[in-house]
Amino acid sequence: MAKRLQARRLEGMEHNPWVEYVKLANEHKDAVNLGQGFPNFPPPDFAVEAFQQAVSGDYMLNQYTMAFGYPPLTKILASFFGKLLGQELDPLANVLVTVGAYGALFTAFQALVDEGDEVIIIEPFFDCYEPMTLMAGGRPVFVSLKQSPNQDLDSSSSWQLDATELASKFTPRTKVLVLNTPNNPLGKVFSKVELELVASLCRQHDVLCISDEVYQWLVYDTNQHISIATLPGMWDRTLTIGSAGKTFSVTGWKVGWVLGPENIMKHLRTVHQNSIYHCPTQAQAAVAQCFEQEREIFGQSSSYFVQLPQAMQRKRDHMIRSLRSVGFKPVAPQGSYFLTVDISDFKSKMPDLPGAAHEPYDRRFTKWMIKNKGLVAIPVSIFYSGPHQKDFDHYIRFCFVKEEATLQAMDEKLQKWKAELKSW
Ligand SMILES: Cc1ncc(COP(=O)(O)O)c(C=O)c1O
Repeated sequence: MAKRLQARRLEGMEHNPWVEYVKLANEHKDAVNLGQGFPNFPPPDFAVEAFQQAVSGDYMLNQYTMAFGYPPLTKILASFFGKLLGQELDPLANVLVTVGAYGALFTAFQALVDEGDEVIIIEPFFDCYEPMTLMAGGRPVFVSLKQSPNQDLDSSSSWQLDATELASKFTPRTKVLVLNTPNNPLGKVFSKVELELVASLCRQHDVLCISDEVYQWLVYDTNQHISIATLPGMWDRTLTIGSAGKTFSVTGWKVGWVLGPENIMKHLRTVHQNSIYHCPTQAQAAVAQCFEQEREIFGQSSSYFVQLPQAMQRKRDHMIRSLRSVGFKPVAPQGSYFLTVDISDFKSKMPDLPGAAHEPYDRRFTKWMIKNKGLVAIPVSIFYSGPHQKDFDHYIRFCFVKEEATLQAMDEKLQKWKAELKSW
């Protein structure tokens, strides 16, 4: 074709780190994959049974359902999250079911961000926020969390926002701020004080908040997840995004949702009805059933929302111990299922790893580690904007939502590595 083929909005977006690292992991079959964030253990029995029932029960579940969500699902999402958010939610007006949280994010950006609008993104960020802003015609404005020397450097809580710097990012063109708590990749759980700061700036500058809370159930120790929509004046300007994939350990089902006030949600519905139109019915029916089951036992020790974080905390601690024993410096996450590790010692001891000169160190390190040490992790610089990548190229991210056998295989690789390090 003689004409320009691709739309201009795709410029600079051709490379996707996930495609690259999934390919790398597949090419090194004997490497232990602690890269991409998905569980490699079975989902809970009640979830499997719910899906089986959805597939083999009512044959009408093979057909289209309502465009904005399968009614039993929108209904239970409204009542379940309505209680948590302190709002009376109308399933038809305040809930939209999407293809995963990815779908929710894309729909939100398309619905709200206009040409030239500024979108504040807190770094490190789940990497799709930047291309989604750009594809909507917006301008990403970045503000970095930085390790505060007065805090416990071994915890993700030490990564904090500078209030003055954050305030300086708001301009009359700011339309949206994207928040992610618990955060991917750090596992930081934003405290009430930090959320109040974000909320007051959003209110002061009349800015909307897209709050990605997909890891809301994965919170450890004494930390508590707080939805920013529960803070005064924030419901009216916040979209709260969730994912059944992360909630019930079923990432392949790709069911997500957005909750928000009707005057904002109606614009998301416009995007949805002109793009996806509706999501797979059976997966929605299964998720509805999972929430029905959880509602009965919410807050009790038998609840998956209690059991999952307990089990994941044990895996987190296992991984921290193993990495420390080899001399790594893990940053203990307060939430999510990721763990960030400081590799600056490696950077000073072996700075010249193979790779292109412009490639951030953490990318070269992870590629070297996959090939030579049989461990797959993700470079943290991919969670930063281009100009900041060089400043944050000495961290890598491991995922610990893995079965015991995988963590043991990790231990073996690490112990072998430790023995080699002794000869350094
Ligand atoms: C912070 C964050 N938001 C959204 C998503 C996407 O979730 P889903 O699989 O439901 O599309 C992910 C997946 O890793 C994530 O880490």
